[in-house]
Amino acid sequence: MAGIRETLEVGGARLRGAGSESPRLDAELLLGHVVGLERTSILAHPEAPLSDGQLERFRALVERRAAGEPVAYIRGVKEFYGLALAVDPRALIPRPETESLVELALARVRGALSAAPRPAGTRPFRVLDVGTGSGAVVVALARTLGRAGYGEAVRFTASDRSQDALALAVENAVSHGVADLIDFRVADLLDPAIEVDGPIDLVVANLPYIPSAVLLELPVAASFEPREALDGGPDGLDLVRRLLVDLPRVLVAGGGALLEIGADQGETAVAAAAERLPGWPATIHPDLAGQPRVLSVERPGR
Ligand SMILES: C[S@@+](CC[C@H](N)C(=O)[O-])C[C@H]1O[C@@H](n2cnc3c(N)ncnc32)[C@H](O)[C@@H]1O
Repeated sequence: MAGIRETLEVGGARLRGAGSESPRLDAELLLGHVVGLERTSILAHPEAPLSDGQLERFRALVERRAAGEPVAYIRGVKEFYGLALAVDPRALIPRPETESLVELALARVRGALSAAPRPAGTRPFRVLDVGTGSGAVVVALARTLGRAGYGEAVRFTASDRSQDALALAVENAVSHGVADLIDFRVADLLDPAIEVDGPIDLVVANLPYIPSAVLLELPVAASFEPREALDGGPDGLDLVRRLLVDLPRVLVAGGGALLEIGADQGETAVAAAAERLPGWPATIHPDLAGQPRVLSVERPGR
């Protein structure tokens, strides 16, 4: 009977041969999924035997990964901002760099809500997550702010053009206990259909920003994700430009937007904002790796 160590060696070698960039980690995650334990737990028991059924399931999952399917879709779960989110091909797999967008949004909301006492009856601070996909950003924000006691003071809207993605976002909001804080809308960017009961203080968006031609060069795993979650047009910024144009219609004076961009798009994004929103300060914020990652724009006023 094969044990965990030997099985991981065989699985890792198969995935290395198939071109995985992280063959050993992939094998560990897949075996953990099969036996129903965290990766660290299986590593702590390298000699533990596996049943024939477990071995068969593991081999089948390794073959799916060898064919290019992302580990997150095979396991059906991805960690994002400390939360286990359900993921499947209805939506993009959340990326670690998007946690920078969450951090910036949290700082902004906390800053606004703690700047001055809010008299009873003050309208809630409204956050709109455009292109919510799996709901990663809005669920992380709602969970964090809800736990910090801001639950009553903030309201969220999450939108996507994809009904399928939105259904997954609802599932994630329900499983993390924040569905009652979020309105979900199917909409094309800031289409008037999105308008909520009040003005919006903060727009956050991780829209598709990969140039169409670059899509062909991505690892095969990306071909399992929805194309409409990745394709940002000729230079990647088509959707960002369209969103910028409509911001004056939805944002309150003093409101702002935080938009994720590619590491090489900072200058182009700032120029696009300056052209479409003259007089609105535009800034690029780096991610944890020091790469340009988020464009912020501020509506003057207040
Ligand atoms: C890069 S994914 C980001 C998903 C999620 N926010 C995240 O960070 O993991 C972009 C999302 O934007 C959505 N999208 C693409 N075009 C859109 C449009 N015109 N209006 C609204 N959503 C759009 C896609 O369906 C996809 O879910």
